[in-house]
Amino acid sequence: MFARSAARALKSQSRQFSSSATRQSKVAVLGAGGGIGQPLSLLLKLNPHVTELSLYDIRGAPGVAADVSHIDTGSEVRVPRLRPHSTSHVHAHPHRTALIQVRGYPADKLDQALEGTDVVVIPAGVPRKMTRDDLFNTNASIVRDLAAAIARVSPKAKVLVISNPVNSTVPIVSAVFEKAGVYDPAHIFGVTTLDVVRAQRFLAAVAGTDPKNVKVTVVGGHSGATIVPLLSQTPQGKSITGEAYEKLVHRIQFGGDEVVQAKEGAGSATLSMAYAGARFTGDILRALNGEKGVVTPTFVKSPLFAEQGIDFFSSNVELGPNGVEKIHGLGELSEQEKKLLEACLPELKKNIEKGKKFVQQS
Ligand code: NAI
Repeated sequence: MFARSAARALKSQSRQFSSSATRQSKVAVLGAGGGIGQPLSLLLKLNPHVTELSLYDIRGAPGVAADVSHIDTGSEVRVPRLRPHSTSHVHAHPHRTALIQVRGYPADKLDQALEGTDVVVIPAGVPRKMTRDDLFNTNASIVRDLAAAIARVSPKAKVLVISNPVNSTVPIVSAVFEKAGVYDPAHIFGVTTLDVVRAQRFLAAVAGTDPKNVKVTVVGGHSGATIVPLLSQTPQGKSITGEAYEKLVHRIQFGGDEVVQAKEGAGSATLSMAYAGARFTGDILRALNGEKGVVTPTFVKSPLFAEQGIDFFSSNVELGPNGVEKIHGLGELSEQEKKLLEACLPELKKNIEKGKKFVQQS
């Protein structure tokens, strides 16, 4: 029931934007068997822009693929009518819809999973038990090795990094691509959408309104003090002051801790993250399909603070067929936001340098 109505909503949304220009989009999820990977794969199966879903994990991906592949949603593509006796899985009726092909790949089939992918989403790794930095060593190696495979097999794919610490893993992927001689900064994204989702949800609760009326830009990085919500730029947030403001900012910056504590050591956010990851992947796919004006915060190679040695930063980014189309500035900041930014920058710089150093030393 949920799957059908969600798919219908996504489908009608996509019809508004894409008509004849719809293209085929193969999406790979690396870490598809995990707490985020499984619901993310489910949500991507519902996205009509996805024509092929490639699910990879060192454990359990074929099972997730078999399960997800039974969902009766299609994708919206132009497919040629098949010749009689064709063995293709693509249904020829009618011209505009097709079955999504879902395949699962076990540990030794990473290259096959990546072949011909347009978008690769990476939620592979271990979730945090305490801070996002405590998992650096494990996740840095996982992300580095996956990035090396993407650079070799699918160097033009858009790479969406969920694995934490994002402030370091995005520089890691970028450095690996650079080493391989295939780096295009417009193709590599840190997924910070969960910070936006939380900011909008929490601000809506304080303002007593529907979250759909609330649009918050979150800039900086993706951990604690590096997360800078620009509440003064929203009609609901600009009047919040004093203790209420401090509390709200703290909840946005450390909202992940609420989930980690409530799960009592069993992991971090998975369901809200899958939602956020599917939303950001959907934004990328809409832009790849030619939709104009897709703007969202994401952590990318950025000139905004490069002079201070901080060459990755999250701000509003306009997405296009080639990935990053335009990086927006921060706009006007309140005095409090200027202070938050001051606290963000040195920590972010350290996180970025840690990622770069890891690749240099490996
Ligand atoms: P999980 O442990 O449930 O799942 C991780 C999956 O990655 C497992 O299925 C594991 O087998 C797989 N994996 C490990 N090494 C792999 C490799 N080399 N290749 C492919 N798959 C591999 O963890 P969960 O909760 O799904 O979290 C995943 C990552 O996402 C963590 O790093 C976590 O910190 C991060 N995260 C990021 C958020 C964000 O806002 N960007 C929010 C929440 C979590």
